[in-house]
Amino acid sequence: MAGRDALIEDAAVALDRIKAGRHPQSLILVGLRGVGKTVLLDRIRTDAETRGIQAIRLETPEDRSLPALLAPGLRAALLRLRTRAGLSDKLKRAFAVLRSWIGAVRISYGDVEVSVDVDPEPGSADSGDIEHDLPELFTALGEAAADRDTAFVMFIDELQYVSEKEFAALITALHRTSQRSLPIAMVGAGLPQIIGKAGRAKSYAERLFKFPQIGPLDKDDAINALARPAAREDVAYDNAALDAIIDATKGYPYFLQEWGKHAWAAADASPIALGDAEAATVNALAELDASFFRVRFDRLTPEEKRYLRAMAELGDGPHRSGDIAEKRGRKTQSLGPVRSSLIEKGMIYSPAHGDTAFTVPLFAGFMKRTMPSLQQ
Ligand SMILES: Nc1ncnc2c1ncn2[C@@H]1O[C@H](COP(=O)(O)OP(=O)(O)O)[C@@H](O)[C@H]1O
Ligand SMILES: [Mg+2]
Repeated sequence: MAGRDALIEDAAVALDRIKAGRHPQSLILVGLRGVGKTVLLDRIRTDAETRGIQAIRLETPEDRSLPALLAPGLRAALLRLRTRAGLSDKLKRAFAVLRSWIGAVRISYGDVEVSVDVDPEPGSADSGDIEHDLPELFTALGEAAADRDTAFVMFIDELQYVSEKEFAALITALHRTSQRSLPIAMVGAGLPQIIGKAGRAKSYAERLFKFPQIGPLDKDDAINALARPAAREDVAYDNAALDAIIDATKGYPYFLQEWGKHAWAAADASPIALGDAEAATVNALAELDASFFRVRFDRLTPEEKRYLRAMAELGDGPHRSGDIAEKRGRKTQSLGPVRSSLIEKGMIYSPAHGDTAFTVPLFAGFMKRTMPSLQQ
C-alpha cells in the first residue's frame, strides 16, 4: 500500500490506547470513493488482531439496521473469549445483557436473526430505545473485554449509510464507554458526509472521534503504486507515461490500479511508454463508464441525473449551490430536496457551507460523456 505509512502508524497508536483502556478513541476514515478506505480498514483490522484485540468486522450497512449488523459480530466476539478461558462473571453478564438486548431489538427491528442461548438479564439494555440500550450493552461488553485483558473493536465500512438515529445511539454508547475507559471502540470508514452526519447526530461527536482524512496519493506515492508492481515483473515505465497516468487519475488509488492494468495490456515491451498510457486512458475510461460510474448512475432518478449533469457542466468542483441551480435553470431552494437525496445516496457532499462536490472522483467527466446535452 503506497503512501499510507503515517496513517497506519497513527492507527496503531490508537489501537494500543484502546487495548489499554487509556482514553480509548474511535476513528472514522474519511475520503472519496476509490481513495483506499476499505483496504486501509482491512489493514488496521489485521494490526488490531496482531495486538490481541477482538476485531469485529461488520457488513456494510446499506440495507440493514445497525442492530442486525452488530448482533452476530458481538455474539461471535463473546464466544471467542469464552473458548479461551471458560466463563468469568463479567463474561456471563455480558452474554446475559446481549441476550436481553437481542430480545428487545428483535421486536423493534425485523432483520435481527441471531439468538443467544443463555438467560437474559431483565431490565438491562432491553427498553427498546436504542439510544438507551446500546450504551448499557457496550458497557457490559467493555467490562468483559477488560476482564480478559483484551478489547473489542468494531470495523464498520460505508458508515454514511447508518441512519441518523442509530448513529446517535452508537456515538452515545462509545461516549459512555470512553468516559469509563473501557476497551471497546470503533474504526469506521465513510464518505465525507459522515462528519456532518456525526455532528448532527451528537454535537460532541467531532471531539469524541478522530477523523483521519484519506486523500489521493501524492506524486511520489502514485509513482510507487504504479511502478512497484510492474517492477516485480521486470517492467518499467517511461516518465512521460507516469506523468500522463498521474494526470488522468489525479492520484486516486483505484484509478491508478485500473490505468496500470490497461497500460500493461497496451504495452508490447518494457518500458511502458506515453502511447500506452494514452491507450490506457481511453480503455480505462470506457471500462469505468460501463461499470464503476454506471452502477452509480443507474441508481439515480431522472431529476438527480439532471442535477449532477448541471454540476458536471461547471467542472470537477466543488461548486456553489447557486451556480449549480443557475446551470439547471432553477432556484437554489427548489433544488434542496434533490441535493439532499444525492447526499443521502452518497453521490455528492458538502465540503463547506453552500458548496457541493462529487464523492466519486472523475464523475463530472462521466456525466458529460453519458449525457452529452445539458437539456436531456
Ligand atoms: N495506498 C494504496 N496503494 C496502492 N493501491 C491502493 C492503495 N489504496 C487503495 N488501493 C487500491 O485501490 C482500490 C480502491 O481501494 P478501496 O479501499 O476499495 O477504496 P475505497 O474503499 O476508498 O472506495 C483497491 O483495489 C486497492 O487495492
Ligand atoms: Mg470502500
